[in-house]
Amino acid sequence: MENSPVKDQVMDQISSQVLGSPVRVGVIVCDCGSKISAVIDTQILCQHARSLPEVAYVSHESYPCSEDGRGRLRQVIVEQDLDRILIAGCSPRLVRSMFRATGQSLNLARSFVNMANIREQCAYVHANEPRVANKKAAGLVEMGVARLARISAEQPRLERVVRSALLIGSDLRGLTVALSLADNGIPLTLAEHASGFGAATPDDLRKHTRQRTIDMGQLALAHPQIEVLFNAQVVEVTGHPGDYIVHVQGGGEIAQLNVGAIIVANAAQPKGLGNGQWFDRGRVKTQAEFEAELDEAFIEKRTLDFSDIVMVFCAEESQRKICTRVCCNIGIRQAIQAKELNPDANITILFRELYLGGLGGSYEEEFSQARELGVTFFRYRSEFPPVIGDQSVDIHDTLTGEPIHIPFDRVVLTMPLIPQDNAPKLAALLGLPLDDDGFLAEARMRLRPGRYAEPGIYALGSAQQPADTDESLFQAYLTSSRVIRFLNQDAIKIETPAAQIDADLCTGCGNCPHVCPMDAIKLERTDGILSLTEIDNVRCFGCGNCVVVCPVKAISLPGWDSVEIPVQIQAALQSSTFKGLGSKIIVLACEWSAYGAADLAGARNYHYPADVRIIRTNCSARFDPHHILWAFLNGADGLFLGACPAGECHYGSGNLYAQERMETLRNALAINGIDPGRLRLDFLSVDDGRKFAQLMNEFEGELGEIVHSSSDQAIRHYP
Ligand code: FES
Repeated sequence: MENSPVKDQVMDQISSQVLGSPVRVGVIVCDCGSKISAVIDTQILCQHARSLPEVAYVSHESYPCSEDGRGRLRQVIVEQDLDRILIAGCSPRLVRSMFRATGQSLNLARSFVNMANIREQCAYVHANEPRVANKKAAGLVEMGVARLARISAEQPRLERVVRSALLIGSDLRGLTVALSLADNGIPLTLAEHASGFGAATPDDLRKHTRQRTIDMGQLALAHPQIEVLFNAQVVEVTGHPGDYIVHVQGGGEIAQLNVGAIIVANAAQPKGLGNGQWFDRGRVKTQAEFEAELDEAFIEKRTLDFSDIVMVFCAEESQRKICTRVCCNIGIRQAIQAKELNPDANITILFRELYLGGLGGSYEEEFSQARELGVTFFRYRSEFPPVIGDQSVDIHDTLTGEPIHIPFDRVVLTMPLIPQDNAPKLAALLGLPLDDDGFLAEARMRLRPGRYAEPGIYALGSAQQPADTDESLFQAYLTSSRVIRFLNQDAIKIETPAAQIDADLCTGCGNCPHVCPMDAIKLERTDGILSLTEIDNVRCFGCGNCVVVCPVKAISLPGWDSVEIPVQIQAALQSSTFKGLGSKIIVLACEWSAYGAADLAGARNYHYPADVRIIRTNCSARFDPHHILWAFLNGADGLFLGACPAGECHYGSGNLYAQERMETLRNALAINGIDPGRLRLDFLSVDDGRKFAQLMNEFEGELGEIVHSSSDQAIRHYP
């Protein structure tokens, strides 16, 4: 391989592009409060950045993402005459667009502002190995600077906005948004996965809320601007803000929609008790089941046929992680109603913490009313949760430490709110991160409340976190106004790049139109010769598939072009900071899945080897065999490719193309004397943090075995 024609060909193709002109890069190292600086010596990292020839200015900040921090960034760009900025801080998935906006306000091309992810990929994942974390952070800064030094200017393009919306979910909040948009003349498709309106959250157990949902559902059905699809599931989303193509499956058919905005109002659901519980289910009920019993008694105008009622708030372990914020209020109201039906009932509420917040304002009054009616409130400690026996609920008195046995003929358990079953699939389709509990996570609540990763996607209510009715109605109005403002624009700036063609280089081979999922490329025949006309900017959503199949590299994709990726590979592999950490593993990670999974692995401290350098790509369609060969030629021991699972590629079927290409490449590697085990492709979802770490550990082990068992000369050891 060392002197093979393959090497010459690849070197020629890439070396010619990895040459740049002098630039002035500014590096801002973020302490992230102390989240980064607790592990990484940011002063030493600054010194290291100063030693890089392209770097003209270095500073370090506690919170460069704050208003003040961005103000100082603007100031140094002007004062120091900087033309490139690298923020060494958290994941670019979180705040890169904000920094880019700051750069753009000073006419800096968006691609000239970038981030080195030293928080998730260093400080978090190597929290217990500061030496390693410091070394890796220095390596990531080198990669970031090298990329900025050679990257070309990428400017946003103006695209049309399709004035229609898709709403997923139809509870009270969703219907509020639907009617609000429709009343403002915006056509809307409402896709509900159930067969009727409104999956009920516990708060919807309130009668007035339920009736309101029914009434608003009727209005939605009759509204000329609203099309309602029941039993409908979103199965594919492509496109960009302002112009999405969405496939919705329902009734055995798939409908294709063209919408400008997508709103997720997919209400959370109360967890059931499950079948594995030993409780006497005739006497132990969930809050929702108890509500039905109360309803029945009110309708039949009869008293309750039980009188010793014990309510257990925060009844399940998982609820300790996230407060559902509605159960306490509902439980107290149920206790009052039970007293109305049976004034002699003995009602005991066992609680860990009482949450009486929300915008409603009446919850504390209900609490006082319950106490006046004789409801007993008893606090338990999380170390001693209530134990439900045959005849009594047993707890520890927190004051005396003595056991207390409370007899019951009805136990009511408040169960946690959990995301809808389809939340992970939806998150993957929309490219949204999930939080630890499986809800859609806001991009950065502290900095951009109510906003999402990209402007055309919105989420509200308990799709993103448990919220009571008033709170989520507030979000519904806020979201409606944002969507209306967004859709009322004639055109918006699209930051997703479109592929570009150099017509002089095109040979008319005809490869690219076959792999374009959007049918955005046309060939024309002039005087019997095939040639490329133009790539349709509006249709192209920048997957990069055409760039990979072009044999003469006449097509490029700004932001993910044939310079950016190899230059990072080269910087990583030639860095002295890589030495002494083990094998050299390059990861090409789709930003919609594997990159997010790596972030999650870091955030949750799932450890993986320090010899991993992750390069973010837009889609696995952009995994270019030339780049992989380039990595091997520059000394990589292993290449790991992380793509979206089948059916979840944000660009249709980029992952399937990647799989096919890698199979072909593995065969070619074997023929050229490189162990194909050094190239691995796996599919991950954005929430596969644990899996990402496992795969990295596994891959490093496999590479170790290859080193020991094969005569592969390109594998090298580092002490
Ligand atoms: Fe992840 Fe295509 S978007 S593989």
